[in-house]
Amino acid sequence: MTEIVILTGAGISAESGLGTFRDEGGLWAQHRIEDVATPEGFARNPQLVTDFYNARRAQAREAAPNAAHLALAKLQAARDVLIVTQNVDDLHRRGGAEGVLHMHGRLDRAFCTSCDHHFDAPLVMAPDDPCPACRQPTTRPDIVWFGEIPHHMARIERALSEASIFVSIGTSGNVYPAAGFVQAAQAYGLHTVELNMEPTQGSVFAERHVGPATEVVPAWVDQVLRG
Ligand code: OAD
Repeated sequence: MTEIVILTGAGISAESGLGTFRDEGGLWAQHRIEDVATPEGFARNPQLVTDFYNARRAQAREAAPNAAHLALAKLQAARDVLIVTQNVDDLHRRGGAEGVLHMHGRLDRAFCTSCDHHFDAPLVMAPDDPCPACRQPTTRPDIVWFGEIPHHMARIERALSEASIFVSIGTSGNVYPAAGFVQAAQAYGLHTVELNMEPTQGSVFAERHVGPATEVVPAWVDQVLRG
């Protein structure tokens, strides 16, 4: 049974060199969400969208897990922890975490819109790449775009209903349904903790640690492991 549910966002990978979305100069200051992160944007200009994720895939591949990713893997080795991430990078897994739920998809995966075959994404995708299963030129990155339904919601809801602690790390709490997990956690009676560079607006967490993830996450993990 899950004891601790951890939700992570772009802030946990920031010190690995991957930009966040909404901090100053972040990805959404450089690109319009409508253009690169919606099904409509992909239908209008598949090359632009594919290039955007190709660039992010290349960047993610160059990045290394940081002390925060490693600390969560250490916690997972000692306690029953479910890591749910909004991130599409693979730094939790490369940091040693297991069973990570990628609710917004994964840069290293792709799928076919004709036959729903899921497969490992090549480092550089092209919009007319044929599907390895059905050969149709209808592949796309396995990323959940705005207007699409995030993955693993039933599993996450079940974990929240049985856990005793909910922790939110490096996320601004702007994007639902992830932004609503803290309210669900409170309704289930969980202790709620926020670890972030800044307290998020209207934050309702019972416990907060403010600072860079590479400092506050290892410190919080040590505190939990000391019991
Ligand atoms: P945001 O960019 O909205 O928020 C990042 C959060 O991390 C902010 O609250 C920062 O203060 C914090 N932060 C920045 N650097 C940090 C550091 N070194 N240590 C700790 N915290 C730090 O990113 P998300 O909340 O992850 O979805 O964004 C959620 C979703 O919006 C993403 O998954 C993506 C985006 O649109 C899709 O593309 C579907």
